[in-house]
Amino acid sequence: MKTPYTESFSRSLEDPSGFWAEQAKALNWFNPPSKIIGKDDNGNDCWFADGELNTAWLALDHHLDSGRGEQAALIYDSPVTDTIQHFTYRELRDEVARLAGALRGLGVSRGDRVVIYMPMIPEAVMAMLACARLGAIHSVVFGGFAARELASRIDDAQPDVILSASCGLEFARVIPYKPLLDEALQLASHQVKTCVIKQRQQHPADLDDPRFMDWASLIAGAEPADAVPLPASHPLYILYTSGTTGKPKGVVRDHGGHAVALRYSMKAIYGVDAGQVFWAASDVGWVVGHSYIVYAPLLTGCTTILFEGKPVMTPDAGTFWRVAAQHGVEVFFTAPTAFRAIRKEDPEAKLMRQHDLSRLQRLFVAGERTDPATYQWLCDILARPVIDHWWQTETGWPIAAAPMGLHDYPRKAGSVCLPVPGFAVQILDAGSSKPLAAGEEGDVAIKLPLPPGCMTTVWGDHGRYLSSYLNDHPGYYQTGDGGYQDEDGYLYIMGRTDDVINVAGHRLSTGQLEEVVASHPAVAESAVVGADDPDKGQVPVGLVVLQDGVNLEAETIKAELIALVRRELGAFANFKQVALVARLPKTRSGKILRQVIRKMADKQPWQMPATIDDPAILDEIKLALIDNRI
Ligand code: COA
Ligand code: AMP
Repeated sequence: MKTPYTESFSRSLEDPSGFWAEQAKALNWFNPPSKIIGKDDNGNDCWFADGELNTAWLALDHHLDSGRGEQAALIYDSPVTDTIQHFTYRELRDEVARLAGALRGLGVSRGDRVVIYMPMIPEAVMAMLACARLGAIHSVVFGGFAARELASRIDDAQPDVILSASCGLEFARVIPYKPLLDEALQLASHQVKTCVIKQRQQHPADLDDPRFMDWASLIAGAEPADAVPLPASHPLYILYTSGTTGKPKGVVRDHGGHAVALRYSMKAIYGVDAGQVFWAASDVGWVVGHSYIVYAPLLTGCTTILFEGKPVMTPDAGTFWRVAAQHGVEVFFTAPTAFRAIRKEDPEAKLMRQHDLSRLQRLFVAGERTDPATYQWLCDILARPVIDHWWQTETGWPIAAAPMGLHDYPRKAGSVCLPVPGFAVQILDAGSSKPLAAGEEGDVAIKLPLPPGCMTTVWGDHGRYLSSYLNDHPGYYQTGDGGYQDEDGYLYIMGRTDDVINVAGHRLSTGQLEEVVASHPAVAESAVVGADDPDKGQVPVGLVVLQDGVNLEAETIKAELIALVRRELGAFANFKQVALVARLPKTRSGKILRQVIRKMADKQPWQMPATIDDPAILDEIKLALIDNRI
């Protein structure tokens, strides 16, 4: 059946230049592009090379010119501080221009990196936009990351300036950021010149160190800065994500392709126009926060919600419904794990029924697989379209979805629906790279060129970009996910084919966890796998072999390892299950058999691998998992 979706999809693949040239017209470029797709210095596909724009200008100033100055751009809703604050487009533009001026006063200019380590407060959004305004490249580090992770990102991005706050708030718990910053600055080899701290009354920081400055004093005397015209290919941000090794990858995104893709996605996928209220309940530290709390809604002229709270206990499992009703949210997007938490506390959705959700049109979920039970529960309680859609930090916007602005396709539980225009999804055989037929499971790949908005390189290491994403299947981008398409073309994402795990919607690398565990002096080697968890989707499980001669109680070591991961990586890793074993199951060539360990931890049937070195080890592992109640 021909629909606006089938037409857009075919055109996007047959004539990508024509298709994206048309989408680019939705933006007010300083200089519209004449070249739509070309090659960059790395030989990569590059979008809109000779166009000039500024994302922050498009997200703010442009709306003042088109009469949206007095419309709410941002609503900050913080049940943890009992605050609701509205910013019109004019107010947000003025705040951002002043902060940009202050940053310029600190010497920040085009191409400089600025690390943003902040809780979910309006200043975090202002910080991102102020960097974009100057052409500085922001790198937001999720506030839940511990000092060591912050330090590794500082060393990789090499910022002169860090923008931060005095504390974050986790439920009723205050998390002081200054000690984390102090430790990170000490651990990093790179010397940061200035840390600007937004003081919060819940826990003001002691700014004794001369490198630290008070946010309010800095902006008080600052002159507003205008937006700098930038080439479309200029980097907008670096966002670090977990790969298969311990070292996170700095995903780089440009101004031009990103703005075009996000603007397109708001209408085509989410079905949202200017003036509507859009809410993505995520964190600005993740890609969902970058794309759908900050950039896409503001580029579109929507009202976006910045929510500082949790789906439960702030104060209860009705908080999402309260926010949606109070601010007239029309389209809502969050991670399935949030709804699993809500459903556990309010299975009959009684709290939802206390709120007027008449303006809510549809709900999108992403970030991890939505289990069919949660999906069905959402459909039943909401009686509105519930759309599971799939994407990743690298793509920056959805690869597959029910494209609500193009056609109202039926959804199928367990499926992320159809490839979005621009994404030539193909299921490939992992070994031979041959395309597979409908129903056959393999690597989910995307035929090149990737559409605008996707990552352009790994910061400082283009070789890593090629080896991580482009070398496995020549001519294709390797997503790292496995899955299949059914006879109707609907896509099913079955899980990662690499060592990435997804814990409560947070992406983590088992390699990264293993590195932290291995840093304990008693540990000889370890294997960490992601085991299924009814609440968090997956949780990490560690099998640990101790050094010979270690004379400590097993429980003591386990507690130390759990505390170590919490301190070095962050509590959000949920590393709570450890079993001490005498040896790890390996192939004859020495590779740890993680898939088998994972199946055992999930209590699923597993097959004895032909290449196993010593089959007897598997019985030992099974017993160790049972002994440790894993
Ligand atoms: N700063 C400091 N600590 C943080 C943190 C942050 N930003 N985020 C999480 N943590 C801590 C939590 O306080 C918790 O600490 P605890 O072990 O002392 O209790 C720990 O990390 C585990 O966090 P989490 O697994 O997130 O559980 P939770 O109970 O705090 O919250 C959910 C459960 C479902 C509310 C939460 O996981 C969630 O909202 N997930 C969605 C993630 C998301 O938006 N992903 C983006 C894709 S859309
Ligand atoms: P992140 O880069 O943190 O957004 O994580 C991206 C990964 O999360 C993807 O590669 C998938 O493994 C997983 N993911 C995201 N959305 C979905 C979804 N809707 N269904 C299944 N897995 C998903």
